[in-house]
Amino acid sequence: MSEATGKKAVLELDGKKIELPIYSGTLGPDVVDVKDVLASGHFTFDPGFMATASCESKITFIDGDKGILLHRGYPIDQLATQASYLETCYLLLNGELPTAAQKADFEVKVSQHTMVHDQVSRFYNGFRRDAHPMAIMVGVVGALSAFYHNNLDIEDVNHREITAIRLVAKIPTLAAWSYKYTVGQPFVYPRNDLSYAENFLYMMFATPADRDYKVNPVLAKAMDRIFTLHADHEQNASTSTVRLAGSTGANPYACIAAGISALWGPAHGGANEAVLKMLDEIGSVDNVAEFMEKVKRKEVKLMGFGHRVYKNFDPRAKVMKQTCDEVLAALGINDPQLQLAMELERIALSDPYFVERKLYPNVDFYSGIILKAIGIPTEMFTVIFALARTVGWISHWLEMHSGPYKIGRPRQLYTGETQRDIKR
Ligand code: CMC
Repeated sequence: MSEATGKKAVLELDGKKIELPIYSGTLGPDVVDVKDVLASGHFTFDPGFMATASCESKITFIDGDKGILLHRGYPIDQLATQASYLETCYLLLNGELPTAAQKADFEVKVSQHTMVHDQVSRFYNGFRRDAHPMAIMVGVVGALSAFYHNNLDIEDVNHREITAIRLVAKIPTLAAWSYKYTVGQPFVYPRNDLSYAENFLYMMFATPADRDYKVNPVLAKAMDRIFTLHADHEQNASTSTVRLAGSTGANPYACIAAGISALWGPAHGGANEAVLKMLDEIGSVDNVAEFMEKVKRKEVKLMGFGHRVYKNFDPRAKVMKQTCDEVLAALGINDPQLQLAMELERIALSDPYFVERKLYPNVDFYSGIILKAIGIPTEMFTVIFALARTVGWISHWLEMHSGPYKIGRPRQLYTGETQRDIKR
């Protein structure tokens, strides 16, 4: 539990003073508990949750002004460069990095659950062949609910744990198949002798015609790092959606499907796809100045820029840029879109319009360029974000269900018609 500081905020409403308790966490601003405002007949009003903490959590901490992102206390750059994605998953789920034995055990557990029930593969046939892979993901992840009736007691800690493992293990299979289906290639089944990232790339790109398909280790390493950089991000829109859905007691697969839906929007995880589309539209460095004028006239947004929380820099973007340089160098790719991206970044970081608004590149600005270099098609970018974020979503869902919680039920400021009678 958070610590009561003994400090109180005093709010005066209709001439009456209400004392509101203040709590401290281990890091970050203190919070004012506004529950008692209700008794005075008022609600608090904070559209977009600009200043409202919706829960207590021990998983991830962000200091947006300083550009700090910690998972269970560890800085993201250390995790991205010194730990594997599965170690980061273990950390998010369990609170500590695994020992060597715990790591080996976790990897075996995950690899034992990478297959999906064969009937799941038939769901794919219900989608149009040109369906967006995110549309498929929303459907098939929700459909997993129908396969685990015997393990859906959310009060049972063992059921909760096996569900978390199943989700982390199966999501790459479902994601790779959402791509295979749309390109009309047969599904490739998981291989347990491969690492998590290798297995995903194998299921994406191997075909029955190319039996000896080998995953390039440079790409597997980059993929693993991209997964780590997306693993969790505290109470963002999709995680809050998972918590809100979970607060009703809905089953975890349905909650994760809700998270995938929330992630899809271009203001959130859909931004990585939108960045590449934007770079395509701009076309060349010569058109950057004109594009920036459009941004300033608010006709378009500079996708991959800005963040609700980061007002200095996004620490994930720093590692992503470094990974981008490494991957392009290792593959000998001289991508003109990287030049374009760097020119956009250069102008944005020096132009008062962006400086005043504290708009910096976010994680999605460079991820698209690396994903493209790896050979991932643009429509799959947000799916990869969803794959990697699944562990964050389920960690928050587990945290919520490991203690008391209330159904999430915001209030509103009603501005519609007052009561009236039908007159006929
Ligand atoms: N391009 C141009 N102007 C922008 C941008 C942008 N990308 N983002 C914010 N602004 C302006 C905005 O118009 C506003 O200007 P003014 O004060 O003149 O009205 C000001 O900056 C503040 O913006 P806001 O919309 O109040 O900020 P927000 O915290 O509500 O929105 C955001 C955050 C991420 C939704 C927004 O910055 C955005 O839409 N960015 C582009 C999409 C994107 O890259 N999203 C990925 C976020 S990182 C991945 C993830 O975790 O989801």
